[in-house]
Amino acid sequence: MSDLHHLLTFPTRPITAEAYVGPLNDLLKSGIPATYTLEQVAAFEQGREDEDDANASNTTPLHILARSLPADASPEEQDVVLTMMNTLFEYGAGWNFVDYENKTVGDLLLESGLTRQSKLYERMVEAGVSAELLLRKVNGGEIEFIEEPGNEEQEQEPVVAEPVVAETTSTDNDKTASDPSTYLATPLEYTEDKLVTKENKDGVMMDWEDGIMKLAADTLFSGNVDATEGATVLNIGFGMGIIDTYIQGHSPAPAHHYICEAHPDVLAKMRADGWYDKPNVTVLEGKWQDSLNKLLDSGDVFFDGIYYDTFSEHYEDMLDLYDVIVGLIKPEGVFSFFNGLGADRPLCYDVYKKIVELDVSMYGMKCEYTTVQIGSALPDWKDVKRSYYNCDYYYHPRITFI
Ligand SMILES: C[S@@+](CC[C@H](N)C(=O)[O-])C[C@H]1O[C@@H](n2cnc3c(N)ncnc32)[C@H](O)[C@@H]1O
Repeated sequence: MSDLHHLLTFPTRPITAEAYVGPLNDLLKSGIPATYTLEQVAAFEQGREDEDDANASNTTPLHILARSLPADASPEEQDVVLTMMNTLFEYGAGWNFVDYENKTVGDLLLESGLTRQSKLYERMVEAGVSAELLLRKVNGGEIEFIEEPGNEEQEQEPVVAEPVVAETTSTDNDKTASDPSTYLATPLEYTEDKLVTKENKDGVMMDWEDGIMKLAADTLFSGNVDATEGATVLNIGFGMGIIDTYIQGHSPAPAHHYICEAHPDVLAKMRADGWYDKPNVTVLEGKWQDSLNKLLDSGDVFFDGIYYDTFSEHYEDMLDLYDVIVGLIKPEGVFSFFNGLGADRPLCYDVYKKIVELDVSMYGMKCEYTTVQIGSALPDWKDVKRSYYNCDYYYHPRITFI
């Protein structure tokens, strides 16, 4: 193992296939695992196999490679490194482990000066997409992210960076943020700049997303809207009503504005604030899973724009939503959603960016992203339990039929 470790620190330059790819293959062929922790190395060297304090020294061969990548590596040298990464993946290296500094290989490659467009970073993304899709297949269509940090069964394995989906985080056992029925029975509290769960202070919606909501509202009107009829739009998830306020303020105003909302406290706020009385607004009370299927069955309404932004739901729910969307959207309509999928880490965010593209393509739709810099809008998260968004850019999705 220590030979493999040493090789991946690039002790000699230039990095050539002869000096690195051949020896790497030999080491892996000899049975050295492509995914191990320094802890395992120590245990191996000291004859200890049962050490359980693994997290302090976690790393993997890919992390060592990424940490050691010379800043001045030439394109030819990077090609050799790419071949080494391919080899490690062939031998089972994982894409989403975090090391002792809680960093993914993607984080380390970006820190080394590579861009998100570089082939080494893109190779990590590609590995993530394949692994997630394979996992879904293995689970018979069910999406199940691998183990979570803190899970006791992880003792000797590197910790996995589990993508955060929707506006929920699943890094602890708090059910409010990850279980829809628990969330819908949890009292909420509106403050000046956010909507949080009363007891736990889970951030359901925060006003730093204002710019994103403005962009999203405009997107809903960007299809081929019939100027005489006016636009019919649907927003799923009212929250603080930021996007709905932008939709109402849009010029020209929407002919019909549907709002689907499930939480009783949010519905009470909507009633108190007069949303039920607006002439062009229809409030669909209850979960979208129920309300939208009714709309679909009625066959009466088709939308120019649909936006989705709920809380405590998972990517599985979005897969179910796609089935409904394709039946409710006009042929030239636009679908968009709050894209916090995996946004706690750049690598997971890029993996989910691709997965959405692939999934909607199954419905004959394409997803185009606009990248928006949001660094200065991000909050310090001090008043909410934890952050659900850690990238300083936002991939705004616009999904239409091809
Ligand atoms: C993040 S907030 C939406 C914020 C909104 N985009 C805005 O601009 O203020 C999520 C909302 O979705 C609602 N919600 C959660 N699950 C839902 C479901 N299954 N159906 C409808 N609404 C749901 C929540 O109660 C909450 O009001």
